[in-house]
Amino acid sequence: MKHIRPSRLLALLAVLFSAISSVIGQTADQAWLKYELKGRVHSFFPIAVRALGSDVVEQAAMAELNRNLGLLVGQDASKMTARLKETLSGETVLGTVDEIQKSFPNIHVSQHLGPEDFWIWGNHEHGAKQLLIICGGTSRGVLYGAFELLRRPVVAPNLGLPKEGLIGRPAMPIRWVDEWDNIDGSIERGYGGRSIFFDAGHIRTDLAPATEYARLLASVGINGCNLNNVNSASAFFTPEMLKEVARIADAMRPYGVRVSLSADIASPQKLGGLPTFDPLDPAVRKWWNDKVNEIYSLIPDFGGFTVKADSEGQPGPASYGRSPADAANTLAAALAPHNGVVLYRAFVYNHHLDWTDPKADRARAAYDIFHPLDGKFAPNVVIQTKEGPIDFQAREPVSPLFGGIPHTSQAMELQITQEYLGQQRHLVYIAPMWKEVLDFNMRVDSATTPVKQIVSGTTFHRQLGGMVGVACVGQNGWLGSPLALANLYAFGRLSWNPDLRAEDIAAEWTRQTISTNPAVVRIVVNMLMQSWPAYESYTGPLGLQTLTDITGSHYGPNVEASERNGWGQWHKADHEGVGFDRTVATGTGYVGQYSPELANIYESTATTPDNLLLFFHHVPYTYKLHDGKTVIQYIYDSHYDGAAQAAHFVEDWHSLKGKFDPALFADVLPRLEYQANHAIVWRAAITQYFLKLSDIPDAQGRAGHYPNRLEAEDAHLTGYKIIDVNPWEDASRGKALSCDGLQSCSADFNYTGNPGSFEVAVEYFDLQGGSAKFTILINGHQQDTWSADDNLPSRSPNGDNSTRHIAHNIALKTGDVIRIEGTPDDADHAAFDYIEILVRSSAQ
Ligand code: GCU
Repeated sequence: MKHIRPSRLLALLAVLFSAISSVIGQTADQAWLKYELKGRVHSFFPIAVRALGSDVVEQAAMAELNRNLGLLVGQDASKMTARLKETLSGETVLGTVDEIQKSFPNIHVSQHLGPEDFWIWGNHEHGAKQLLIICGGTSRGVLYGAFELLRRPVVAPNLGLPKEGLIGRPAMPIRWVDEWDNIDGSIERGYGGRSIFFDAGHIRTDLAPATEYARLLASVGINGCNLNNVNSASAFFTPEMLKEVARIADAMRPYGVRVSLSADIASPQKLGGLPTFDPLDPAVRKWWNDKVNEIYSLIPDFGGFTVKADSEGQPGPASYGRSPADAANTLAAALAPHNGVVLYRAFVYNHHLDWTDPKADRARAAYDIFHPLDGKFAPNVVIQTKEGPIDFQAREPVSPLFGGIPHTSQAMELQITQEYLGQQRHLVYIAPMWKEVLDFNMRVDSATTPVKQIVSGTTFHRQLGGMVGVACVGQNGWLGSPLALANLYAFGRLSWNPDLRAEDIAAEWTRQTISTNPAVVRIVVNMLMQSWPAYESYTGPLGLQTLTDITGSHYGPNVEASERNGWGQWHKADHEGVGFDRTVATGTGYVGQYSPELANIYESTATTPDNLLLFFHHVPYTYKLHDGKTVIQYIYDSHYDGAAQAAHFVEDWHSLKGKFDPALFADVLPRLEYQANHAIVWRAAITQYFLKLSDIPDAQGRAGHYPNRLEAEDAHLTGYKIIDVNPWEDASRGKALSCDGLQSCSADFNYTGNPGSFEVAVEYFDLQGGSAKFTILINGHQQDTWSADDNLPSRSPNGDNSTRHIAHNIALKTGDVIRIEGTPDDADHAAFDYIEILVRSSAQ
């Protein structure tokens, strides 16, 4: 942390303390910082806390310990037993190496501490002589040490401090979150509400949430936050706006989080009025130098720039025949005197590819562009590479670029926000996927070169490197869904230590966030660990990526959205077979971008892992996987298995009722129920699509057969019109009903089954732009009514918004008339697809 002027220090302290007082009322949004540690007092933790330095970060560390200690002892010191008082007496002292050595010359801080490292040491005495020291290389190390100490009672309850002390040291220097916030307060690919930073073209007046966010980030060691959307950056670079951005930097600084900005390469032209933005033009270079100096005069610890250029419509150096290295180095030269860095994204590709060209392949782009530039980047440039070669899909192979630029620093970019992973409406704990990537051995020069050691800088001896998580947090509980916060937590923990195990992180998070009850931890961890495999099974098995609407919502099923267009996310399904031939021998040659040992594995269907088969190869539907099952049967089975697993999550959660905070229980339950139903939408869409395309039946007779369904278009209709749903696979038989231009419509179904008590599920389309009303009547008697008022993507009926309502305990006898009445509201036309009569206990 840079030296801060005294006046600024006072302002920062004011920010810090106002944030702390406003925190109290926001406990629901505190994610894992709940500190419900009562009864788990740590014997090495004296409650008198003293910071040796006045640095604002060190003060934040002290405040954090003090705040927690109140909760630790039940906030009432007078009620503490003598034994507890004795246990907690003595002193906890915080300081940097210099401060500690000065105050305690007899204590030898034995290990060399880097700026972010910490050393926690106790003298193992009792009573008033007890001394606990949290020593940091700088104040940031002190802060990380404080959070480590606070985590330990929950994370490692039985482990005391080792005699020689506990050393903590981040694996990599860059541990950033990226926010894709727009200046109007909306957030690209954000699913947690509006921006905590911006609103209506300005910085929000109340930045307490920004400080609170920095606190969350620091608690897991994240040290940078890039604030704005890579797709709309220039508006942030006006002098007025930069002054405002400085307020955010002030708000986050107490927690050691440095802010950065996405930079638009065309800014010298767009904002500076220059005739060009050619990065090699002297006037352009001067413009960047001046702009960077201006930024640092306002934000002395500014982190640097993130750049998206020549990608998806963003301007870039290609307009002048210049390379990414030319552009990155121009910015880097301006930033270098201030210790700023450029994170230049490798996500550069042509989205107007010719889909009829068998050699065209978007997956090749990053390596084709950046590999030849290896060694040409300035030392403070880091290439920020998405974990896979396409775009955060349900599964992709690891990007070959990690092994392809050994003379260049690299950071791995991943998404915490679940753009292609169910948008926080589906439970998907992504840490197992990130772990697969981090642990993946690129086999550069036949050596053991896992991605985690490449991005930490170890393998190729780079000073820089790290992990960047696209978080897109908002005002609605940060990520919009309580269990999704496990991903933010896991990202931080892995960027600090990529050797941690995904299940251990899940357990840590659960203990801090939900409960320390071992039974709860076991079930929640199991749910989290099953969630990515389940999601992959029903949205994109065998390396098909996410079979969603890739040009629109990126949410519901839409198999053909990725085919026959320039975006290059093709999976090339036809009547005979499916998958993309990327081999060297007969395909696009993408496989050749890997080290020879990996290329050998991926070149052949026999050695390619099943879960990536269709990413690398085009095979007939009857091709047999390693266990002998055909590809088409696997597609059917995985969708049924995945949807069953999603249904199981509901049961798992039910089994936890009464074991922790009822509000959290009640918040999560309907989300899991929704997911279970949406998994059915996915299952029906993908299986009926491939059934029709391949013309090969499901050996288990399920795909395309829905014994309990009554199709809406077969009912007796009053007012309702039969419509074609687009894409067709998102409704059964491709048809649904819509009540267009009328006050209300109805559909009557004759019940021909046996008498009994049933659940009646109505599969309807909850459209944006209104809240239609639905009513179920049996023989004219109302049984249930509800509004379609969820907030799901899209204004037209499709798999984004196909959802279901279940009416429980409906008594039916043969000959009864089941009527569904729909009352449209504005743009929501009370459309529905089918009803289903289910024999099931009404536990839900
Ligand atoms: C995805 C995403 C875009 C984003 C882009 C990126 O394609 O849909 O919203 O801009 O990634 O990473 O730049």
